[in-house]
Amino acid sequence: MATLQEKLLTPVIKDKTSIPKNKITIVGVGQVGMACATSILLKELCDELALVDILEDKLRGEMLDLQHGSLFLKTAKIVADKDYSVTANSRIVVVTGGVRQQEGESRLNLVQRNVGVFKFIIPNVVKYSPDAIIIVVSNPVDIMTYVTWKLSGLPQHRVIGSGTNLDSARFRYLISEKLGVHPSSCHGYVLGEHGDSSVPVWSGVNVAGVSLQTLNPAIGTAEDSENWKDVHKQVVESAYEVIRLKGYTNWAIGMSVADLSESITKNLSRVHPVSTMVKNFYGIENEVFLSLPCVLNSQGLVDVVNQKLTDAEVAQLKKSADTLYGVQKDLKDL
Ligand SMILES: NC(=O)c1ccc[n+]([C@@H]2O[C@H](COP(=O)([O-])OP(=O)(O)OC[C@H]3O[C@@H](n4cnc5c(N)ncnc54)[C@H](O)[C@@H]3O)[C@@H](O)[C@H]2O)c1
Repeated sequence: MATLQEKLLTPVIKDKTSIPKNKITIVGVGQVGMACATSILLKELCDELALVDILEDKLRGEMLDLQHGSLFLKTAKIVADKDYSVTANSRIVVVTGGVRQQEGESRLNLVQRNVGVFKFIIPNVVKYSPDAIIIVVSNPVDIMTYVTWKLSGLPQHRVIGSGTNLDSARFRYLISEKLGVHPSSCHGYVLGEHGDSSVPVWSGVNVAGVSLQTLNPAIGTAEDSENWKDVHKQVVESAYEVIRLKGYTNWAIGMSVADLSESITKNLSRVHPVSTMVKNFYGIENEVFLSLPCVLNSQGLVDVVNQKLTDAEVAQLKKSADTLYGVQKDLKDL
């Protein structure tokens, strides 16, 4: 007896199973993971989305909730499981799993707790998607990107930390508010460590190629009567402020991860400030990950833009590198 489906459809090919071409996996379906998931879905970046977590009910609940929106999406398949076989053949794996930064807790304090979590996550990710590009979001993101690089055995161009992509977005938003010009037209980079010791590159801030430092040579310094320095201070403080107000940050990081994913899935070769291995850049001697402007395309992180930094900026980068190395060198079993 033919089923309704068999009565409705005449198969043209026998085997209709297909391998996804643009599958994205999110590991960790907490606030950040789900913000990444929804941003990626709404930007129509993947043909299959896989979710992984250790909390089975939460995982299934999030999967069902997203699946119920399928009518409004262009992603054919949304799957979830605590077993990593569900992630097989991913093109991008976004890692947000781990323990969250508590109110007032520095990102560096999180590190040891999250290393334990990554020792389970990363080998499983690589087992099922050996060709994937991994985007690390979990904090402290620069160290966790290093940990991922070590645990995965992947080449450095396929292990990317979200780094100061979010800090730079906050920087450009705050500049845009002061100037009344959209953030996409306010160009500027925050580099180095994501968070407290990030480096605002004032010499490069411009609108339509007009350097703000040329118009105000004191910009970003203590001598500046307009106090533009405060913009970077707000960038550093903004995560703490949002966490104090709502308990976590998620929307902006979700959108910024979707933006990185878009450069990869669409092979755009756009420049993003993301965390990469910076040994031998600016005189840094250790294997640490920090954000520099990087070109992202379908192969991953393919180039680093050689940005001219002032002596003070280089000194700040080196200081961050030393701080991160100071924590990293004591990590065991990597
Ligand atoms: N890089 C950035 O710019 C940025 C911005 C915001 C948050 N973060 C970081 O992102 C991470 C996630 O934040 P959140 O607010 O979503 O936290 P959350 O606590 O809401 O979610 C974390 C999720 O990870 C899951 N998890 C724990 N162990 C796991 C494992 N072994 N395998 C799979 N999943 C596991 C938890 O069950 C939970 O669902 C934190 O480390 C946070 O500091 C980074």
